Amino acid sequence: MERTLTIVKPDGVAANLIGEIVRRLEGQGLRPVAMKMLRLSHEQAANFYYAHRDKEFFEGLMKFMTSGPVVVLALEGEGAITKLREIMGATDPAKASPGTLRRDFASSIEKNIIHGSDSPSSAAFEIGYFFNSLEVCRR
Ligand code: RTP
Ligand code: MG
Repeated sequence: MERTLTIVKPDGVAANLIGEIVRRLEGQGLRPVAMKMLRLSHEQAANFYYAHRDKEFFEGLMKFMTSGPVVVLALEGEGAITKLREIMGATDPAKASPGTLRRDFASSIEKNIIHGSDSPSSAAFEIGYFFNSLEVCRR
């Protein structure tokens, strides 16, 4: 059983998509094991997206990710990391497959409604970034 981390980004929360996103994730066998809403500070967003600190889009990403509340979930399931990325679709919604969350709901390569961990090491870092061990439930 694998765990991964997802974030309903500020545009997803603003578009009232929390329920639809969680419904699709649960429907595909990704069970929430931790969940909370918060508004990220610039420092919190910057440390989360540390790997992208030198990219030209970094400050735009910070502005976007701090523009409103987000919902963070740790998810558990078979092949959870890959499965989540499949349900999300490609970073650029124009390139995402039909039926994926980004294709159906995202408005641009930046404002793309959802984050997902991209590897086992980033999943471990990202779950620990938002949740302590008492907050991650066994199911
Ligand atoms: P995420 O980390 O949020 O799950 O997204 P991802 O793996 O699909 O894409 P990544 O390359 O990790 O980029 C992180 C987020 O930065 C924003 N971005 N903007 N303006 C741009 O060209 C650009 N490229 C990326 C997006 O919000 C992307 O999801
Ligand atoms: Mg990424």
